[in-house]
Order: sequence, then C-alpha cells, then structure tokens
Amino acid sequence: MSNLTTEISKRRTFAIISHPDAGKTTLTEKLLLFGGAIHVAGAVKSNKIKKTATSDWMEIEKQRGISVATSVMGFNYGDYKINILDTPGHQDFAEDTYRTLTAVDSVIIVVDVAKGVEQQTRKLMEVCRMRNTPVIIFVNKLDREGRDPFDILDELESELKISVRPLSWPINIGARFKGVYNIYEGGLDLFTPDKQKVTERVEINDINDPAIDVAVGDADATKLRDDLELIEGVYPEFSEPDYLSGKVAPVFFGSALNTFGVKELLDCFVRIAPSPRPTKAEERMVNPEEEAFSGFVFKIHANMDPNHRSCIAFVKICSGIFHRNANYKHVRSGKMLKFSSPTAFMAQKKDIVDEAYPGDIVGIPDNGTFKIGDTLTEGEELHYRGLPSFSPEMFKYIENTDPMKTKQLNKGVEQLMDEGVAQLFVNQFNGRKIIGTVGQLQFEVIQYRLLHEYGAQCRWEPIHLYKACWIESDDAEALEAFKRRKHQFMALDRDGRDVFLADSGYVLQMAQSDFPKIRFHFTSEF
Ligand code: G4P
Repeated sequence: MSNLTTEISKRRTFAIISHPDAGKTTLTEKLLLFGGAIHVAGAVKSNKIKKTATSDWMEIEKQRGISVATSVMGFNYGDYKINILDTPGHQDFAEDTYRTLTAVDSVIIVVDVAKGVEQQTRKLMEVCRMRNTPVIIFVNKLDREGRDPFDILDELESELKISVRPLSWPINIGARFKGVYNIYEGGLDLFTPDKQKVTERVEINDINDPAIDVAVGDADATKLRDDLELIEGVYPEFSEPDYLSGKVAPVFFGSALNTFGVKELLDCFVRIAPSPRPTKAEERMVNPEEEAFSGFVFKIHANMDPNHRSCIAFVKICSGIFHRNANYKHVRSGKMLKFSSPTAFMAQKKDIVDEAYPGDIVGIPDNGTFKIGDTLTEGEELHYRGLPSFSPEMFKYIENTDPMKTKQLNKGVEQLMDEGVAQLFVNQFNGRKIIGTVGQLQFEVIQYRLLHEYGAQCRWEPIHLYKACWIESDDAEALEAFKRRKHQFMALDRDGRDVFLADSGYVLQMAQSDFPKIRFHFTSEF
C-alpha cells in the first residue's frame, strides 16, 4: 500500500450529534481520554460554553477562542487517527452545525435513555439521511432511571427513520443497572460506577455460560437470555454493508459519565466506521486516493479579535496530500494561493502542519478570501457540492439604524452570510432584507458582530413566516403564474434563486395543492 492509501485507511472523521444535555460533551471527553489526548476528566467540560450564557453574547464572544480549539479534535487510538468534528448542540446551534455534517464520513448519535429522541437530533439526522451517512447510536445515562430499551429502539426507528440493530444490551437500568452484554464481541461488562476507570469485563463462552448467572444473579441472567432471544428474532443480523450505506444503525447502551460502554463503542466504531469516502463534486466523483490534492471549506470561524477581521477557514481534505506552502487553486476566484501557516487540530492544541491527508481538517487563516463551500485543488476545476441550505425556522427583517453606515452594514451582512451564520433573502415585493436563522441566538450574534466588527447598527423587525421554500418548475409559464399570484411572498436567495416565503403551514399546503406544477423544496439542494 502506498503511504497515501495507508494514511487514508487509518482515518476516521466523524461528528457526535445529540440534543443538548444528552451527553455529547461527556462522551467526547471520554473518547479523548481513551485516545490519551487529555488526561483528566473535565478538561473538555470546562471549555464548554456555559448554558447560562444564552442571552449573554459577550460571554460567548469571550469563549470563541475555545470553541475554535474544540471545533476539531484529532487524536490517535491504536493504529487509527481519529478526527472528531464538533457540532454545537446548544444554544449556538446554527447553520454551520448542518454544514459540519457535510465534512464527516460517519456520525455517532447520543440519546438520553430517559428522554429518547429529541428535536435537534431529529433535525440533524435528516441531514445524515440525505447523505446516507453511516450512524451509530449510543443510548446514554443507563445509570439513571429511564425507558425500556425495547421502547427506545422502537422510537429510534420511527423518529430517526432508520433501521436499528442493538450490538449491546443493558441488564436493568437506573439503580438496578448491572451492566451490558456485548453482542458485537460477546462478553459481559459489569457496571462499576466510576468516572475515571474503565469497565470490568467477565469473560464468557456464550450466552448460556453460568458465569453470567454468577455475575448478575439468576433472575437477571434469565431476563437477559430472553431479551437476546427476542432481539435475535426481531432484528436481522448486523450487516456492515447496510450500516455503511446508512440503512441500519447499530445501537450501544452505556453511561458516558461513568465511562461505561464507551470503550466498546469506540472499539467497534474504529473497526466498522468508514475511512474517508469518495466525495461528490459537480464534475465527478473524487477518490481520496487520487494523488492530486483537493478539499473544501465547510466552516469559517471568525477570530476573537474584532480589530482584525481575520477568520479561520476549516478545510476538509478530500483527496491527495495537502502540503504547506504549495500552490493551490481557489476555484471560485481562479487564483493560485499559498498557505504558510495551516494548522492541524491534535488534541486541543493547534499546531502548524506541513502535510495533511484525506479525512483531516486543516485550519487556514483567512482575511475574507473564503466562502463556505469553496473548493481548493491543484488546478482542476472542481466544485464540491453537498452544502445545502435548509429552510430557516426564524425570520426577521433587518433594518439599518445608522444611515451613514449603510455600506458597512451591507458588507457585514454579506460577510456574515459567507461565513454561514444565517441566510439572507431579499423580498422581491418590498426590497427588504430578511435574515433567516435556526435559533434565536443568531440574531443577537449578528447584531453584536455587525456593531463590533463592522461599526454598523441594525435593528430587527418581526415578520411572521413559517418556512422558506425553494421553488422550481419545468413549466416556465406555471412558474411565472405562481410568482405573480404570490408576489408579496416571493424572495431571492443569495444565489438569485426563487424562494417562496410561506406564512403558515396551511398556506403552504394550499399552494402545493393549487399549483401542482410547482415543486417546493425545503433545502436548497435539489
Ligand atoms: P451535552 O454536551 O450533550 O449537552 O451533554 P453533557 O455531556 O454536558 O451532559 C449533560 C449532563 O448530563 C451533565 O450534567 C453530565 O454530567 C450528565 N451526564 C452525561 N452522561 C451521563 C451519564 O451517563 N449518566 C448520568 N447520570 N449523567 C450523565 P450537568 O449536571 O449538566 O453537568 P455537570 O454539572 O455534571 O458538569
């Protein structure tokens, strides 16, 4: 195997997604502990943007340096090089959370055993489904009272719209939680509540081994055997190809806080999770093994220092080897660029890196050259796709409050949109600008940053909208007729595409039935 092929086969680039509080931070930290990237529990936790900071943007601003550092966490585990991409699961949930999912090869979903599938997980899973991203599910907090595991499996299937296959199985739950039977490897892991130490394992021959009865008691051993029989009867055997094509999600149970079930998850993960896969460009599929370097920008992070409007562009390497100081083509502008100080993200440190491989992320200091979705190559005209915009959920008119600063405001809005902070639509009826976000905090962020980085002032005015839908039709006349009829609600997105702003679910439904020739899309990628 060539050096490039070996390096690719070692890489596992993934994101952990969950609803706030399900345990993503705790799990991330435990994975870093196993990888030796950190040495004490609490190191990641203490970096977390505090939940109390919801309305305190200043506080978040202070912590932005930290969130750059934790945006990508790389570490070695055995022969593997693991890159975890952080997807903010908290109040700072934004457009770029979705976009991060375009840069990963697989995903681990954390679900709280008491709460089951929650809203944010559902939304992020939609993106995974669109892209057939392989997912593994970790059901967390088994040390607490929670729901019946069979119920949870049903809910995972119906809410996440994916088939599931348990690869471990809990013995009781909450105060009576005794451990997990490892279906994947065969073996019984006994639960010892301990935040630092790793699981105690009982070696067994098979499920009928009397050692299980000794370890957990007769009644629980019988229940475990019954449960497993049911599982084998109901769920088809685990198939790796089905997992890799996003059809079935293996499920593990455990307690991240107690480092329980985490190693089993990680060991299975590195074995089955995909190494970097081919990436679809508009022109063709690009294999990671191709010699020529290519990559795309999936995230842009503004710097902390408002006086220097410098950013870090996060580039996912799709093929070939990235070299520091080599000349690469910025396909959108056609310019050749050279990067003298790209950074790698190992553990939580940022270091200058000389070369990086497919699956890796490099951070490139940027002064406004990059936009989300930009492609870099050795010269080929490639455009990586797969960075959809979703219909925002909250909309507001943005109004300039300082007429002397119109230029600054426009420039600020442009650049923040390039960074992917939110989406801009221009209403074709009244020419007003509408900003759409997925969370309330984004409005505060935008207002604050416009003022501090661009010296522009804005205020928000309410607009009542339900969804923004991209519309198209094969029948140009039908499209025109629709646009005329709905002219007050027509807008253009930044790429000049037609967007219908529906003010209620009912209106949208009516429009869909009244205009059968029009196709309504809820993401910009269709
Ligand atoms: P998030 O990143 O998904 O938002 O979740 P995070 O890891 O911060 O976990 C949310 C809360 O759940 C934390 O408690 C964490 O300690 C707790 N937790 C995580 N895993 C487990 C588990 O396996 N069992 C139990 N019982 N709790 C778990 P907190 O009180 O919000 O924070 P802290 O005060 O403990 O730091």
